[in-house]
Amino acid sequence: MTDIATTAQQPRFDSVEGLRESLRKVDYLSDEGIAGIVYLADRLGKPILVEGPAGTGKTQLAKSVAEVLGARLIRLQCYEGLDESKALYEWNYKKQLLRIQASKSETSGQDWDDIEDDIFSDDFLLERPLLEAIRAEDPVVLLIDEVDRVEVETEALLLEILSDYQVSIPELGTVTARQIPMVFLTSNNTRELSEALKRRCLYLHVDYPDMDREKEIVMTKVPDLSESLADQVARVVRSIRQLELKKSPSVSETLDWARTLVLLGVEQVDAETAASTINILLKYQSDIAKAVKELTAERKSFDKASPLSTSS
Ligand SMILES: Nc1ncnc2c1ncn2[C@@H]1O[C@H](COP(=O)(O)OP(=O)(O)OP(=O)(O)O)[C@@H](O)[C@H]1O
Ligand SMILES: [Mg+2]
Repeated sequence: MTDIATTAQQPRFDSVEGLRESLRKVDYLSDEGIAGIVYLADRLGKPILVEGPAGTGKTQLAKSVAEVLGARLIRLQCYEGLDESKALYEWNYKKQLLRIQASKSETSGQDWDDIEDDIFSDDFLLERPLLEAIRAEDPVVLLIDEVDRVEVETEALLLEILSDYQVSIPELGTVTARQIPMVFLTSNNTRELSEALKRRCLYLHVDYPDMDREKEIVMTKVPDLSESLADQVARVVRSIRQLELKKSPSVSETLDWARTLVLLGVEQVDAETAASTINILLKYQSDIAKAVKELTAERKSFDKASPLSTSS
């Protein structure tokens, strides 16, 4: 079944540490867990299912791995109602029709079998992302983004690709991958994915980064940010994430906040600055109110040396 998965393919990465370093060079800060799974997926020839809260770098991971490999990223963005004709392939009906009309007007009079062979050939096939990835001759990374958005029945479209790296097209036969692409599926966990899908993948949970990694991400992605400000940003965000919120700030919101502080020329995040810019981090009024209350309380209890501006 997955024989091609374990034979003859050159490993893409030498070591987990090496991969981490390569990712860092393209500005993706991973940890051992993330790099370890990517390394393993390559060795085992298996897709990776990346799950976790919004804005934690799931999509970016696939993009960054593609960048590391110098590979083309082929992306299938999932949505409710996605079907075979948008995910796998579609016959070019207009062109087929024209071909049939043309053959009718030809005096030579082709018989139908010939025409049929002709219109169900490669020339009339429109590749969609999954088939494109399978047929690619250059190195590719396939990203099946937000797979939890498709209906559970639609997941079935993916199963053949994920386990056998092939696509069956009734009129053409089975198209098998020339090389096993790296495949990433991402999910925000809005619904349970099927067992069949999960079984085919290695599982990677990407959570909010710890404080040090978030600080590093902020320093990498926001130019002109001092180390001390990056440190304070990571600290405040961590303390806000500890509150019971409707929606915790994501890494992308941390980055937006850091950029805002730089634009405002802030050098020291005190409770007041944090409270007045909190709407960059939080998007629900109830969350904002809760966080502001917490920040103000912290300011009161640590009147002189605010914990927000002190390294512990
Ligand atoms: N580990 C990381 N290293 C570098 N940048 C990161 C990291 N994690 C997140 N980011 C940055 O955070 C932003 C959001 O990342 P991304 O879009 O990949 O999140 P996501 O998990 O796919 O979110 P969603 O579930 O909303 O699609 C991007 O700008 C990305 O560059
Ligand atoms: Mg994403």
